[in-house]
Amino acid sequence: MTVTGAGGQIGYALLFRIAAGDMLGSAQPVRLRLLEIPQGVRGAEGAALELQDCAFDLLHDVEVTDDPHVAFAGASIALLVGARPRGPGMERGDLLAANAGIFGPQGAAIGEVAASDVRAVVVGNPANTNAAIAAASAAGVPAERFSALTRLDHNRAVGQLASVLDVSPGEVSGVTVWGNHSATQFPDIAHARVAGRPALDAVADAVGGADAARIWLDEEFVPRVARRGAEIIEVRGSSSVASAANAVIEHVRDERAGTAWTSAAVASHGEYGVPEGLVCSFPVRSDGSGYRVIEGLDLDDRGRARFTASVDELVAERDAVRAIGKL
Ligand code: NAI
Repeated sequence: MTVTGAGGQIGYALLFRIAAGDMLGSAQPVRLRLLEIPQGVRGAEGAALELQDCAFDLLHDVEVTDDPHVAFAGASIALLVGARPRGPGMERGDLLAANAGIFGPQGAAIGEVAASDVRAVVVGNPANTNAAIAAASAAGVPAERFSALTRLDHNRAVGQLASVLDVSPGEVSGVTVWGNHSATQFPDIAHARVAGRPALDAVADAVGGADAARIWLDEEFVPRVARRGAEIIEVRGSSSVASAANAVIEHVRDERAGTAWTSAAVASHGEYGVPEGLVCSFPVRSDGSGYRVIEGLDLDDRGRARFTASVDELVAERDAVRAIGKL
């Protein structure tokens, strides 16, 4: 398994859980290859020392490198966490271009040297478009093998719903995050169920009727989930790290073990009218062979408008990257 950006914050929260068996189970040994840029190599080496000090039974080998061809050689799982953050004065176009310069070459290296069954999940932002770039650059690897992480957004939505209903998150199913991993995302509970009943009915009971439920959805639930990253930064003084790492663990675990319903950003084949090739968050299921979009769900007019706005943002990101010849 390859983890990029392994010397960073999410890397530090992720590596120990992988090595403990949380992602692949307690019977699957792991070999970790940690990719960093030269400035990040010491951080990754420090994490590797601590991994050794944990003496995890499952961890057979750790190698730190700044060479993508070494890092991805033979990898079946690639966690693309490292990305270029937005610097002072950086416009969105600059950010997209800087990350295209990372995810293009990494995708190409995956196509050249990774295992034939490789699957990659992109965490580094802008995650959806970075995943589209990596997929387009990975010669010989089907685009379905690349996804982008929206599981954190999904889990945030489940957490908010469980909280207002005062139930365990395990009793919530059928939540969807549609669109981009950004503030335009649309967290949707129209098809969700809580302890066997429609979530919308349960919310109406909890907040005082159907009209109050609609107001809660529009004015509290959707904006809070979509802006939760900013809320965490404001309260914690630092971005989401442990919850992001947890979402990566669950994204890969459920894709491989199978799940009836979660959210992930995958390459569109035109589902729900999303232009082909955009890496868009949908409701997905997996039988263990990769995430597939759950089709045939109804979106009401308000939901459709929110989803369309987020897809429009993905189109704009794609067009900006195309304009500089990176996609
Ligand atoms: P961080 O800044 O602590 O770590 C990033 C690491 O990536 C650094 O060590 C850096 O040296 C490394 N890096 C940069 N370019 C690289 C390259 N070309 N190859 C290999 N490594 C490279 O950031 P943090 O907190 O770990 O977050 C990582 C990314 O995840 C950010 O882009 C962040 O916005 C994103 N993120 C995505 C979430 C999602 O739900 N999709 C949730 C939270 C964060």
